[in-house]
Amino acid sequence: MKEFSVAIVGVTGAVGEEILNCLEERNFPVGKIKLLASSRSAGKKIAFKGEVYEIEEAKPESFEGIDIAFFSAGASISKELAPEAVKRGTLVVDNSSAFRMDEGVPLVVPEVNPEAITEHKGIIANPNCSTIIMVVPLKPIHDRARIKRVVVSTYQAVSGAGHAAIVELEEQSKAYIEGKEVVPKIIPVAKGEKHYQIAFNLVPQIDVFFEDGYSKEEMKMIDETRKILNEPELSITATTIRVPVFRSHSESINIETETRLTREETMEIFSNAPGIELMDDIDRQIYPMPLNSSGKDPVYVGRIREDNSIENGLNIWVVGDQIRKGAALNAVQIAECVISQKLL
Ligand SMILES: NC(=O)c1ccc[n+]([C@@H]2O[C@H](COP(=O)([O-])OP(=O)(O)OC[C@H]3O[C@@H](n4cnc5c(N)ncnc54)[C@H](OP(=O)(O)O)[C@@H]3O)[C@@H](O)[C@H]2O)c1
Repeated sequence: MKEFSVAIVGVTGAVGEEILNCLEERNFPVGKIKLLASSRSAGKKIAFKGEVYEIEEAKPESFEGIDIAFFSAGASISKELAPEAVKRGTLVVDNSSAFRMDEGVPLVVPEVNPEAITEHKGIIANPNCSTIIMVVPLKPIHDRARIKRVVVSTYQAVSGAGHAAIVELEEQSKAYIEGKEVVPKIIPVAKGEKHYQIAFNLVPQIDVFFEDGYSKEEMKMIDETRKILNEPELSITATTIRVPVFRSHSESINIETETRLTREETMEIFSNAPGIELMDDIDRQIYPMPLNSSGKDPVYVGRIREDNSIENGLNIWVVGDQIRKGAALNAVQIAECVISQKLL
């Protein structure tokens, strides 16, 4: 089997670390690997497939001879270095929001729109994590019953805000229980002026706000879902909330369809849909929760109910590991699709 030279930009981060795990677990055909991060990490060592590699500072020339580069170092690094990689013939799979809504940049969830990959011009964007976890169950419903409107509320883990937010929740929890002072520094927006305690709390702000009152995370979910499902006029609204959970995002999704689906039909659709695991047995208290889904690949769906307040409505509860399916795994699956479609 052909092997590929792979680079990871942001390998020391929450997503970068998981990309490395996914490549190893899925036996991705890696020939050479280059591990890149900021100058702060240059010289540190990381193991991959039993060998130890030294991290290098990401620079334009880092991409010479690289076939595929996974970027997970934030939008500004992607904007600066992804074009340099493309110039050198590298295919970029980008986890940041830098190019997601650009025309000519496919925004891909392999279970939903793998066909979009063929349109790439060097960069393929990985969607926002909450969006990925939502569109995996929306797609088979849309195919069967045509979605008219979606109302989503999220319960997002702190790891969605990176490594520093994981450490913050740990430290705040200990300090709070020990009666010590809690000094918030990361949530809701690390670079913002005002921060709130997340331990034993929740914060109804993810990313910055726009003038109309929606947050950037909410608008990503709206705009990206329309692009991925190729439904530019889809009615969809979102409320995104940060909760004191380490890993895995949860979402309450209300779906209005053109034709009616019963609970049983919906269960049958999800039982046969790619990337989904049904966890719905209330008699035995079986439903998805973040602790059960952390470190796992599927998007878990449960609490399926018909919404009798409208003609054709459904309520579903969805949980997925946003570092894995919401980022690293989806990126690696995109690269696998590119290889299987012989586009590299
Ligand atoms: N966390 C999630 O659940 C999630 C989900 C989907 C998408 N994403 C996206 O994935 C990206 C990474 O997120 P994360 O959560 O992994 O963040 P993170 O844990 O804060 O890690 C950031 C990474 O970027 C690297 N970096 C920072 N400045 C750099 C520079 N100047 N040059 C090269 N590398 C640099 C860091 O390296 P150093 O250690 O050297 O500073 C680190 O490896 C972001 O765009 C984020 O929006 C995250």
